[in-house]
Amino acid sequence: MGASQGADGPAGLPRLALLGLAALLCCSALPRFALSTEYNYTEALDGSYFFYEAQQAGPLPTWNRAARWNGGWRDASFLNDGSDIGKNLTGGWFDAGDHMKFQLPFGWSASTLAWSMVEFPAAYGPPSGSLFQTVRRNLLFAADYIVRSHVNASDVPGENVYAAQIGDTDTDHARWCRPEQCPEIQGPYRPTWVADRTRPGADIVGEAVASLVGVASVLKMENPADPAIPLLMTHARQLYAFAKAFPGTWEIPAGDYPYRYGTHKWQDDMLWAAAWMCRAGEGASYCADAVSFWNVGSNMGIGWCPGMDWDNAFNQASVMMLGMADRFSASFLTTVRTRLDYNLNLWHVSTVCTQPPPNTDSNGDGLVDDGHICYSPKGFAHESTWGTARITANAAALKLAYSKYLPTNPEDAKRQRCWARKQMRLMLGDWGRSFVVGFGCNPPVRPHHSSTMCDRDYSITCDGNTAADPRPNPSVLRGALVGGPRKDDYYVDDRMDYILNEVAIDYNAGFTVALAGLLQLSASTPDWDAYCGTAPTPITCPWACSSCDSGTQPGSNLASQRSNCYSCVNARGVSKSWQCHACVGNATYVASQGQHCLSCVSAGADAWACQSYCTDLSSDIAVLPSCTSCVADPAVRSAGPWRCSVCMAPSVLAKGAAAVEACMSCVRSLKGPYACAVSV
Ligand SMILES: *[C@@H]1O[C@H](CO)[C@@H](O)[C@H](O)[C@H]1NC(C)=O
Ligand SMILES: *[C@@H]1O[C@H](CO)[C@@H](O)[C@H](O)[C@H]1NC(C)=O
Ligand SMILES: *[C@@H]1O[C@H](CO)[C@@H](O)[C@H](O)[C@H]1NC(C)=O
Ligand SMILES: *[C@@H]1O[C@H](CO)[C@@H](O)[C@H](O)[C@H]1NC(C)=O
Repeated sequence: MGASQGADGPAGLPRLALLGLAALLCCSALPRFALSTEYNYTEALDGSYFFYEAQQAGPLPTWNRAARWNGGWRDASFLNDGSDIGKNLTGGWFDAGDHMKFQLPFGWSASTLAWSMVEFPAAYGPPSGSLFQTVRRNLLFAADYIVRSHVNASDVPGENVYAAQIGDTDTDHARWCRPEQCPEIQGPYRPTWVADRTRPGADIVGEAVASLVGVASVLKMENPADPAIPLLMTHARQLYAFAKAFPGTWEIPAGDYPYRYGTHKWQDDMLWAAAWMCRAGEGASYCADAVSFWNVGSNMGIGWCPGMDWDNAFNQASVMMLGMADRFSASFLTTVRTRLDYNLNLWHVSTVCTQPPPNTDSNGDGLVDDGHICYSPKGFAHESTWGTARITANAAALKLAYSKYLPTNPEDAKRQRCWARKQMRLMLGDWGRSFVVGFGCNPPVRPHHSSTMCDRDYSITCDGNTAADPRPNPSVLRGALVGGPRKDDYYVDDRMDYILNEVAIDYNAGFTVALAGLLQLSASTPDWDAYCGTAPTPITCPWACSSCDSGTQPGSNLASQRSNCYSCVNARGVSKSWQCHACVGNATYVASQGQHCLSCVSAGADAWACQSYCTDLSSDIAVLPSCTSCVADPAVRSAGPWRCSVCMAPSVLAKGAAAVEACMSCVRSLKGPYACAVSV
């Protein structure tokens, strides 16, 4: 079980979730309106893959939706990865908001995404459809990196070498940067560390095998003769034989700081690998291996956990095996089912997190300790503080998948499904806001994530000051699940609070499975409220936030400004939210005008001043921030913010951004504005 804890990096850039086992809410007291629909699970599912595209390292494929040429902010990065061992190890996904490439959570995430596809294929539509193709592209991108990470591929187990980690955590976490610029800022030290016969890593390699077979299985759904399948399977067989012959967990060589605490095991990863090989029809010996890895794991701590995560694939492998009644004996599958019943039932307790039972509050914070499952006052299930939403989403994924294999027990299937739906709905909005960036009502706008928190213009410095600036991240990391609220339902959308606002590739993996599960099951459950027997749960979208939506409809000029508008509402409070709505109320505005107006209002200025003296006079985002600092300046506000508009006259604008700034600065010192305009 990944009972490890996070640690803070030197500059407050922790890992971000690998180290972890994994409010200002303006609106909670407001009138709410209820919609009797489910959340748009398709939109959330598609968003999740957008997030993985934003995490891509190396040269970006043309289809990357976060790439600059597709309207995003990303470009090629870390083009020298692997050069220290003479290999091209560009590609893969950055682990979290940082730029490390760790193969264990990477392999677990990729294989879990593949699992979502084979377990819930109907969620993804036909292979010709766009969602299926989105996933196929992303999974092939991951598999390509795994194949290239297999730097020495051999049928002789002891000759295999697999790249286990790229990057040094201390170096990477020392300074914030855009991935495209990190080597210039952090320095060139970017070591490649490998697993080989002298430094085995059956945990990492097992996850690589699971991913390769998983991706091959997805390819097979579209075209059983896909030429990539034999290539992926050859690597999978070689890596499997290597890990089996050289078991053990991979340990980082001295030099990097230890990226984990506590213990982890390799048996669950090899179980996951063997189960995939067995499922893919690779032969009885893999199925027999799966049984023996299951038996070993079932007697270890990993076999007695309520969930799944990057450090424990025992339960998900167990569920997948239930789908292979033709490969395993009925008595073995009964044993597996009994264990899953036990493990998944661990979630069904009545403990309230804020009322710790005896001996469950060792640090005296009034909350149930990590490792004991409890429910927040709003009903959100928590098992751990760090990345709590991810852990709950992982449990929802397991329960939804498990529910497929309970045909003779419809009551239990319902119990599992309704639990999962309730918890996923809390994450998507029922809690009172969304915890998914760019999705739903009042989503987080300040995830702890380098590339989105920097300005899109690469010439603008991005560093610790940028991180500390409370503004929303200029780019929207659509689809990313953040850490989530605390056990007492406290949450703040603050990127420096990385426990609540971290994002990571493993955070979205189980979440994706759960979304696919809800989507597939929705076809047979047209009325979830009736099925679950609960009163309709209103989607609570505070009007102050939802009023932002009308001016930011998809396809409109200001579509990209919805989350900035929510953020503005949070910054100014409900009573002043109409100021924010005004900024998205002029349909002729281009995005930079809406963006500027919202940040101007967020800074405390009045919308009419921001508009008539700034945005209505220019759409040039290079000069507009100078105008905000002028109209929001308390002295200027009392003297009359019209003074700032003098610096937005065509004659000053024609002289460029530096002249505008000089003029505004002159006005802020309350000199005569016309003299200021002439003197620059
Ligand atoms: C749900 O989202 C998908 C993808 O964004 C979109 O195509 C679809 O129209 C949405 N459905 C509804 C009912 O809004
Ligand atoms: C490294 O591999 C990637 C992916 O295959 C490719 O796009 C890139 O051009 C390669 N880089 C070099 C230097 O060969
Ligand atoms: C790969 O294998 C070759 C030959 O077996 C060996 O010379 C080389 O050092 C190996 N590469 C690595 C990175 O270990
Ligand atoms: C809308 O914005 C334009 C500038 O883009 C401005 O000229 C116009 O006056 C604005 N309209 C209203 C109604 O404020």
